Amino acid sequence: MGRTIFSGRWCHGGGERMNTDLFEIIRTTRSMRRLKPDPVPPALIRQVLEAGTAAPSGGNMQAWRFLVVRDPAIKTAVAQWYRRGWHEVVAPRYRSGAPAPGSSRERFDRMLAAAEHLAEHLHEAPVWIVPCLEGGTHTRTSGASIYPAVQNMLLAARALGLGATLTTLYLLFEKEAEAALGLPEGTHSYAILPMGYPLGKFGPVARTAVEDVAFSDRWGERWTEG
Ligand SMILES: Cc1cc2nc3c(=O)[nH]c(=O)nc-3n(C[C@H](O)[C@H](O)[C@H](O)COP(=O)(O)O)c2cc1C
Repeated sequence: MGRTIFSGRWCHGGGERMNTDLFEIIRTTRSMRRLKPDPVPPALIRQVLEAGTAAPSGGNMQAWRFLVVRDPAIKTAVAQWYRRGWHEVVAPRYRSGAPAPGSSRERFDRMLAAAEHLAEHLHEAPVWIVPCLEGGTHTRTSGASIYPAVQNMLLAARALGLGATLTTLYLLFEKEAEAALGLPEGTHSYAILPMGYPLGKFGPVARTAVEDVAFSDRWGERWTEG
């Protein structure tokens, strides 16, 4: 097991055959919020991290740092802030609002149930990857130098049969959560990616059609293939 993802070969990743069809992976990398507690082999964590460090960053400065958290005490301390953000702010807002575009009420309610599960079990995910940036300002531009790495890691995890979710709602309590993560002064986290073997199956993502979100030359003019 555990050939590097860049080899382009088929191999085994924690029981599920590794998938190297990029477009299939992109179409089926949905948030996997229900995870088994089984540990993730360090070789797979390494492959995910390697995918992260293959991402572009402004000037190739690679100011990213990735905190790999497996310590239950740290996860428990940080997860309380996440849970508070979910119960006090995010869950009430989603529950009283409309479903996401392209989603039905039923599908949206399933997503909320999964999100509630994650809020209650975040600390039980066997491993978290916390992508951070060291120094500099923390703006939209700096985010552009870390989120490509985040997406690479989500895709790599899925390719290896690992489930993960991009989460940010702990940032409602940014200071407290980053203190619990032990981040040094000037270093900030951009997400927590709880990762592990999924309880459910990977499936296609639900998204608005390209025709409804892409414009051709002029804003508002639908893009078509023709
Ligand atoms: C910027 C950002 C922040 C997110 N934060 C959270 C979060 O804190 N908790 C969570 O459960 N999901 C979070 N998500 C996951 C989205 O809810 C999810 O990607 C979206 O509902 C689409 O579902 P899918 O990934 O299953 O297709 C976040 C996604 C993004 C891009």
